[in-house]
Amino acid sequence: MDKNNLKINISNILKSVSTKLKTSFNSDLLIETKNGKNDLVTNMDKEVERFIITELKKSYPTAKFVSEEGYGDDIKDINGLVFFVDPIDGTLNYVKQRKDFASMIGVYLDGEPILGAIIDVMADKLYVGGPGSDILVNNKKLITISDHSLSDSLITVSARLVFNEELNMKEVIKKSSGIRMMGSAGVVFGRLLENRQGAYISKLAPWDLAAGKILAESLGYIVVGIDGRPVNMLKSQLVIIGTKQLTQEVLTILN
Ligand code: IPD
Ligand code: CA
Ligand code: CA
Repeated sequence: MDKNNLKINISNILKSVSTKLKTSFNSDLLIETKNGKNDLVTNMDKEVERFIITELKKSYPTAKFVSEEGYGDDIKDINGLVFFVDPIDGTLNYVKQRKDFASMIGVYLDGEPILGAIIDVMADKLYVGGPGSDILVNNKKLITISDHSLSDSLITVSARLVFNEELNMKEVIKKSSGIRMMGSAGVVFGRLLENRQGAYISKLAPWDLAAGKILAESLGYIVVGIDGRPVNMLKSQLVIIGTKQLTQEVLTILN
């Protein structure tokens, strides 16, 4: 596996995706709902997913794909080369705001993180890197994060968790500097990577998490389930991505 080639391939694919998504605003979108009126899928989610998988298969014909819109594989383990693909992350923002949406690819080899890449389309920011290499935003090196406490940090908590009475999430929010909600996991990961907030707590699917997890861990963030255990890359789960100290504080409050 030539990691440098992989980085170049994936960066180029995400730049093409960004152009496609910007251009898509010149035509009508086909919008459908999935599991409710705020769970949208558009023709572009499907087109972009097909495009990413087709392009990657040219260079990695034996790889497997875990993706949101149904063009990937149904896999039972993450042995071998696996690409996690979220073609448009923040589809509701894409449709309603025309900004604050991303496209993401996370790469694992035999379960080990290799490379994460997120493009924040309208901000024109490409985050890319992985273990053993620099984490870059548009070719600028990002620095390892400092270990902020909860009271020092802005945090993102998904709306569903804020309203969940069983978890003590209101206490977590009260102890923080404040809460910010973006509507796109990719955009939140960008804020974490640029050291502009200290944590993200949400239920995330594998394609929401894979790329950001690799990038965030490479800069010193902790990524664990809400029970403090390692995450399972093949299922949706409640996840905390946070600085070391903050994650410990949150786990103490929640458990
Ligand atoms: C969603 C966004 C949102 C998060 C949801 C995701 P999608 O992704 O990342 O911020 O709260 O859990 O499903 O569906 O727009 O790709
Ligand atoms: Ca998506
Ligand atoms: Ca998503």
